[in-house]
Amino acid sequence: MKKLFAIIGNPVAHSLSPVLHNYWFRKYKIDANYKLINLDEVNLKKTVDDLRKKKLNGMNVTLPYKQKIIPFVDKLINDAKLTNSVNTIYLDENGNVVGENTDVFGLQAAYLKEISDAKNKSSLIIGAGGVSPSIIFALQKTKVKNISIVNRTYEKSLFLKKKFNFLNILKWTSLPEELKNFDIIINATSLGLKNGDNFDFDFTGLKEQSIFIDTIYNPIETKTISFLKEKNIKTFNGLNMFIYQGQKSFYLWNKINPEIDLGLIDLLKSELK
Ligand code: ATR
Repeated sequence: MKKLFAIIGNPVAHSLSPVLHNYWFRKYKIDANYKLINLDEVNLKKTVDDLRKKKLNGMNVTLPYKQKIIPFVDKLINDAKLTNSVNTIYLDENGNVVGENTDVFGLQAAYLKEISDAKNKSSLIIGAGGVSPSIIFALQKTKVKNISIVNRTYEKSLFLKKKFNFLNILKWTSLPEELKNFDIIINATSLGLKNGDNFDFDFTGLKEQSIFIDTIYNPIETKTISFLKEKNIKTFNGLNMFIYQGQKSFYLWNKINPEIDLGLIDLLKSELK
């Protein structure tokens, strides 16, 4: 019987997860379809029950439900447990609905593995929303020594510090002048998203040797990335992180580690044009 997979979120229309997973289903000749489900919060439980009843074979979870889904799953494992953030769900052999997090792996596999001498690097996460716990934990796993966070709403940084007590919190208004103090800067806000708002300052303050990572992949080049590229600062967009988180989800569901080939990259880039 044809298997069914989905990503749930709200809004979810922008997600490229169906393109990614359906490409791999075709490549590995798996009879399955992956679709978008734009969900109201009241239907979270019902959708998890669909998975329990095997009407769905696996799910990704995106904003704003990465935390909100937790009460409805039977158990959290590994990185999901350590971040309290779930982006992948499956049914295990005992019939338990399991919540896992593949965003942490996504960030590590895509960028952090390239960072040398992490122990002496200082990092700044801009944003304290849904993806931030995974970023903090990935930096911690990579052994980056100094991890700071800044968010427009200060209280959300304080909330994260309850779980990650080593965090150094900065004030939003100090951000432009603080940039010069960091080697790795990660944008985990929604600023820069297609048709959305942008930072209201440029990133002139960044050190020449810094690297800038954007978690946004749509557009593939945010205004900030274009600006920094002009200045010859090393930048990464969110596409690789997106692909690697999907690779690990695919493995959890199908026990196949799918290849990230050129055909896939071309396809994703063409969808982003
Ligand atoms: P949520 O806030 O529901 O977790 P998210 O998409 O995960 O949603 O996070 C959005 C992030 O982008 C937050 O860090 C948000 O800052 P606030 O916590 O202050 O809302 C940030 N963000 C969104 N629009 C912003 C803006 N115009 N200026 C600054 N930060 C913004």
